Amino acid sequence: MFNHAKLEKNSILMLVAILVVVSIGGIVEIAPLFYLESTIEKVKGVRPYTPLELTGRNIYIREGCYNCHSQMIRPLRDEVERYGHYSLAAESMYDHPFQWGSKRTGPDLARVGGKYSDDWHRQHMINPRGVVPETVMPGYPFLMDEKADVKGIAAHLEANRMVGVPYSPDMIANAARDMTAQVNPDSDGAEAVAKRYPGAKARNFDGRSGPPSEMDALIAYLQVLGTMVDFSVYNAKENLR
Ligand code: HEC
Repeated sequence: MFNHAKLEKNSILMLVAILVVVSIGGIVEIAPLFYLESTIEKVKGVRPYTPLELTGRNIYIREGCYNCHSQMIRPLRDEVERYGHYSLAAESMYDHPFQWGSKRTGPDLARVGGKYSDDWHRQHMINPRGVVPETVMPGYPFLMDEKADVKGIAAHLEANRMVGVPYSPDMIANAARDMTAQVNPDSDGAEAVAKRYPGAKARNFDGRSGPPSEMDALIAYLQVLGTMVDFSVYNAKENLR
């Protein structure tokens, strides 16, 4: 019979035994992941960002918005009641890098799309304290005057395609045109944007005419967050249970 006292008195033997036991747990958890084709379940409605939204996302990262805002609603009651349906993995499957985060100086933004008007966002970005007097969020008024980088956008789509986002050659070839068309809702190009990116909204997001500004791009991005999946379908299904 195995002498248990020996194991308990010899620290090296104990260490080896602990490692063996712990690694069994590790293997059971991790090994199956290598045999799965995908760990993300595809969900209807999730599509790659339009060139304008992707530009907005790049600005969001450049300005460090993630230092104060997370983009993942945890499946906990208080979070779901405050922000809406918990985040699905598929909702950030085209985010490279993802913006989940855990720092919440400001609220989670995973479902901020459609919560406010474009006008609210513009006022809030230009002068946050003009809208929410007690906020510590800095203003970003310069985004109104900066032109969004239309020329460079095709390369961003291409880079995202290389890491797995299904941007088609057609999308990449028309990236610059689509970006300008999305802020000109009455142009012919606006329809093409909606065709290439189902559900994409073409609007003059910053309220100024002319080529897309960085404000246009950032608001287009904020307004699409959390809106791609139709949760009325999901919630109905869950209620049947
Ligand atoms: C220093 C921290 C900080 C930074 C950096 C910051 N925010 Fe905020 N943000 C806040 C706080 C605090 C609030 C809540 C009060 C308010 O609405 O201003 C907020 C609110 C918001 C809201 C409204 C959310 C809601 O549901 O009411 C949006 C949208 C937003 N921020 C976007 C941004 C974007 C985009 C950036 C980057 C360009 C950014 N924030 C950078 C702190 C920050």
